[in-house]
Amino acid sequence: MKIDKKEILAALETITVAGEGKNMVESGAVKNVVTFGDEVIVDLVLTTPAMHIKKRAEVDIMKVIHEKVYEKAKVKVNVKVEAPAQNKPQEIKGKPIPGINNIIAVASGKGGVGKSTVTSNLAVTLAKMGFKVGLLDADVYGPSAPIMFDVERERPLSVTVDGKSKMKPIESYGVKILSIGFFTKPDQAVVWRGPMAAKALNQMIFDAAWGELDFLLLDLPPGTGDIHLSIMQSLPITGAVIVSTPQNVALADAKKGVAMFQQESINVPVLGIIENMAYFTPPELPENKYHIFGKDGARNLAEDLKVPFLGELPLEQSIREAGDVGRPAAMQMATVTAEAFEEITKNVVQEVVRRNENLPPTEAIKITTMAGCSTVKK
Ligand SMILES: Nc1ncnc2c1ncn2[C@@H]1O[C@H](COP(=O)(O)OP(=O)(O)O)[C@@H](O)[C@H]1O
Ligand SMILES: [Mg+2]
Repeated sequence: MKIDKKEILAALETITVAGEGKNMVESGAVKNVVTFGDEVIVDLVLTTPAMHIKKRAEVDIMKVIHEKVYEKAKVKVNVKVEAPAQNKPQEIKGKPIPGINNIIAVASGKGGVGKSTVTSNLAVTLAKMGFKVGLLDADVYGPSAPIMFDVERERPLSVTVDGKSKMKPIESYGVKILSIGFFTKPDQAVVWRGPMAAKALNQMIFDAAWGELDFLLLDLPPGTGDIHLSIMQSLPITGAVIVSTPQNVALADAKKGVAMFQQESINVPVLGIIENMAYFTPPELPENKYHIFGKDGARNLAEDLKVPFLGELPLEQSIREAGDVGRPAAMQMATVTAEAFEEITKNVVQEVVRRNENLPPTEAIKITTMAGCSTVKK
């Protein structure tokens, strides 16, 4: 028995994918139909990953072919899920906020693992690659961007943009910077509640004159607490990068960090994990690698959690010194360290592109504060 492709299409024109008005051929859900003898292969593209819709479509297709074309046809349905076309960002563009194409949160779980060091070096490397970059130092417990970029004494000025007064970020090494540290005295301990911190950060994003940015990097405070929930839920974050050392205590916290981003109420894609302080090589023994905090811990964690591994950085005196003098190590020309940061930065960009091709922009959840308690609205 030879089945005619036209008859199959005519049969499929009589059924719909659940939730759609047009029949599945007209709506474009049926991408292709192939027939050989009594075999029929239908390629179907759905815009939702919902299992019941997929099952329903498969059953309906088989049934209609058996009833209308040939009752013994061997039918195979290949289903592919794709985001609806109008949600597909172009190139690198996620456009979570007008003018800001991608907001990347850098998080660690544990403090002191090098999150701010990595963020500042990612920022200058992106700028070196020609991207327009902003860095928002959101570490309310220990802001470090002012020191790491040697702009400790600067204070953002107010400028007027479209009739509105806005904060002008401080620029250093091609990176536009705003930090909680610009608004607090260095020795002043700040106690923030989540909604307060989220509000301050919202102002630093929406009421600042960032101009056009390809990337806004967000240096988050350590931990996975209430403050993170508020920040994550009120900002449309494109994706998160997790920094960890290979040490078990740091890995356990990094794992919590990944889980936090992936939980349903936050749902921020994890772009990958960076292993910092992966090993130490003494300058006089360039062939040797000492795994001071353990070997491959973050790499293995990435594999376990099925998130990309973005690369490793050595423990190196020059990285620490560069941070302390306020000139990120990646600013050096053609050093092994600068190359390591370039490699990692390329991987981050690649993951952002991949993410924007495959997923719709992250939605922010509106947080309103009433009488000291926060309510969350979609
Ligand atoms: N790869 C590295 N090699 C040497 N020192 C590092 C490295 N990464 C971070 N540091 C140093 O470790 C300390 C903590 O790093 P920091 O970036 O402030 O961590 P976090 O932001 O996670 O608290 C800083 O003194 C920093 O200079
Ligand atoms: Mg820090």
